[in-house]
Amino acid sequence: MKEINIGILGLGTVGIGIVQLLKKRQAKIKNIYGVHFNLKTIAVRDVNKKRNVELPANTKLCDDDSKVIDDPDIQIVIEVTGNVDGAYHAIQRAMQSGKSVITANKEMLASHINDLNTIAKNNQVNFFYEASVAGGIPILRVLSESILTDSFEQVNGIINGTSNYILSEMLTNQADYHQVLEAAQQLGYAEANPRNDVKGYDAAYKLSILSYLIFGQFLPVSKIRLQGIDQISIEDLKAAQNDGYKIKLIANLKRKHKQLTASVVPTAIKKDEQLANVDGVQNAIQVTSDALGRTTYTGAGAGSLPTANSVLSDLIASANTETNGYSMALQNDNNNDYQIIKNGG
Ligand code: NDP
Ligand code: HSE
Repeated sequence: MKEINIGILGLGTVGIGIVQLLKKRQAKIKNIYGVHFNLKTIAVRDVNKKRNVELPANTKLCDDDSKVIDDPDIQIVIEVTGNVDGAYHAIQRAMQSGKSVITANKEMLASHINDLNTIAKNNQVNFFYEASVAGGIPILRVLSESILTDSFEQVNGIINGTSNYILSEMLTNQADYHQVLEAAQQLGYAEANPRNDVKGYDAAYKLSILSYLIFGQFLPVSKIRLQGIDQISIEDLKAAQNDGYKIKLIANLKRKHKQLTASVVPTAIKKDEQLANVDGVQNAIQVTSDALGRTTYTGAGAGSLPTANSVLSDLIASANTETNGYSMALQNDNNNDYQIIKNGG
């Protein structure tokens, strides 16, 4: 049996879900893959904070990231802090010392995805970030595998759970915007800075990651047309409903004639269309591709256990030393010769 030491940076909504789910599935993982993940160290900001989780007896909690990053016995690091610069440098250092890394940090990836994939490749370590797009939906793994046999044209859908939850609650329960946003924070859906959710940035970060993965093209968030949901009133939602529509925050990434266009905007969708019926924290991603046509993936877009499930699938993939993260798919895609990005429309 293979024993792999892991370390985690962060023990908030997602970190706690990872600890709980790993405990629950450890025996199954051992039986099927012959691997035991030993959760050696977890670094947080405040070790004295009360947390709703019981750590394994041999797991150490500390407030020093370097006890995870610089520990030669730790082989895989999971980053779930939500920091941007700190996380980037921590991941870089971990990979340079030969550790595979898993992150859920879309904001950081939207700036550093290319660089970190290169560092992973140069150091022959795995780098996975399934949880960074659409929480529990295993969209990155599916797309990075089908990129080898298919060719993508467009990705669109609902990729921010918090704003979809807010729009749904406002319409269904006549709930006040600020109260629903607070509920989304308490449920662990919203970002530490919920402005990222309601102003559309979080969905834009995810489009940037998708663009890198499926089109092999780095898409800066500044090139994405962006409008959030924070100016939408209950009256707007009801007026749309009376006309047979539902307002959803729709993210769209399209390639045409080697040009990419990307946008995140509240959009009125006819009520009998699939995306109009995706409510609450659910996400839905519609992918249009050459071989498959249109495929829709739906599921929990945020929350502790759905997100932790994506992280654990990365953990199992990382235990396989013969892979090299998603970058393998990119290296094999010879079709990424489109360089011009048009400002979204
Ligand atoms: P939380 O705010 O709940 O937790 C963040 C954790 O990181 C806390 O435990 C905090 O410590 C710790 N932390 C912050 N800075 C440091 C640091 N420098 N070193 C060590 N630990 C640190 O965030 P979430 O768990 O919700 O999110 C984590 C990441 O996952 C983010 O990148 C987020 O975008 C992403 N994500 C979140 C999803 C969700 O549904 N919540 C879904 C998909 C992705 P302390 O507890 O001591 O303050
Ligand atoms: N805040 C994010 C959302 C978490 O609401 O979608 C999942 O990425």
